Amino acid sequence: MSVQWNEMIVADARALRASEIRDLLKVAERPEIISFAGGVPDPKLFPLATFNDVYGDLTGDEQAGRRSLQYSISEGLPGLRQWIADDLAATGAVRDIDNILITCGAQQGLDMLARLLLEPGREIVLEKPSYLGAMQAFSMRRPSYVGIAMDDDGPVIAELDAAFAKGARIAYLSPDFQNPTGRSYSLDRRLAVLETARKYGAVILEDAAYCKLAYEGESLPSLLALDDAHGDPDAGTVIQLGTFSKTLAPALRIGWITAPRPVIRQLVLMKQAGDLHVSTINQEIALRAASKLFPSHLETLQGAYRAKRDVMLSALADFMPEGVSWSRPQGGMFVWLTLPENINSRELLIDAMEDAKVAFVPGQAFFCDQSGINTARLSFATESNERIRDGIERLALLIRRKDNQ
Ligand SMILES: Cc1ncc(COP(=O)(O)O)c(C=O)c1O
Repeated sequence: MSVQWNEMIVADARALRASEIRDLLKVAERPEIISFAGGVPDPKLFPLATFNDVYGDLTGDEQAGRRSLQYSISEGLPGLRQWIADDLAATGAVRDIDNILITCGAQQGLDMLARLLLEPGREIVLEKPSYLGAMQAFSMRRPSYVGIAMDDDGPVIAELDAAFAKGARIAYLSPDFQNPTGRSYSLDRRLAVLETARKYGAVILEDAAYCKLAYEGESLPSLLALDDAHGDPDAGTVIQLGTFSKTLAPALRIGWITAPRPVIRQLVLMKQAGDLHVSTINQEIALRAASKLFPSHLETLQGAYRAKRDVMLSALADFMPEGVSWSRPQGGMFVWLTLPENINSRELLIDAMEDAKVAFVPGQAFFCDQSGINTARLSFATESNERIRDGIERLALLIRRKDNQ
């Protein structure tokens, strides 16, 4: 008798679904397609020479080299956690290294927090739209999603309050240059979010993946930093996720969770049980590269991405027909497009890939309630300035045609 896989695979794992959009977008990697679909950094901006140096320095040093190839503690290298604690302190978030766990990217942080805090039916509040990867991590625990509407300043507080009043006690939020919309919260809204969470004793999971990619305007304090103003960091409301993926290189797979000590202690046990620790050598390399490169490399990234964003925004203004609107992000990698209501962006993608040779991600996938049929995420991170302008012009022509049909 053959194995009955349907019965063998547990319900948590079955909750994960393959994405039809991902399959569709596989073709977007062909060179003839101008792709605004990727969610990845521009590889041309990876600091290759510095990596060459720091790997050489490390493996050329007998003691440090051998140590970096050994197992290490589950919390993460103390030196790296200290670097992160110092960096957080510079933003106003005072944390000890015992408040930090190094994870295999922020994505593992999301998975671990899902396993720590979610269970079937437990409610979690999400922005509409929200980061798809977070929803994938959360879905494994089969929670119940409560989507809340966003305006230009952040989440609509009445909706957040209502979600907590009905019993939700966890919210996953991205206050800076959100994936997928590129939008950020105003200072007042950050304060209101914290006040609302405190009113109900709720936890905020703050995703700070893009916070360093700020291109203009004043940098606003994170929810974590604002939470600190109210005393003991171990009693805080906010758990923050960070990563080097957007600032050094995603292949390092170095992220972190900052949380009250009792939470970190529990997560460390999970990390031990799961994969022992993040690669020692990668942690060592990330520490050496960040110490050497920051803040000047951040300025290089900010300059390069700002220029690409500007090209995309001016092309949108030049070519898009009336009835199409878009976000004007002050950082990050994404512009969010809202199309006329009669245009389904999934259908548009098929024609865009075939006729216009342009790819983007239809927005519906980012909504926990499957709304947003006429929305799309455009990344300006990886294409050249010329191709960004060309791609937006082609897409605009197609939208014009569709809108007139
Ligand atoms: C908002 C957000 N959070 C987390 C991640 C995961 O990043 P990583 O696991 O590479 O650190 C991403 C990746 O694109 C992201 O966009």
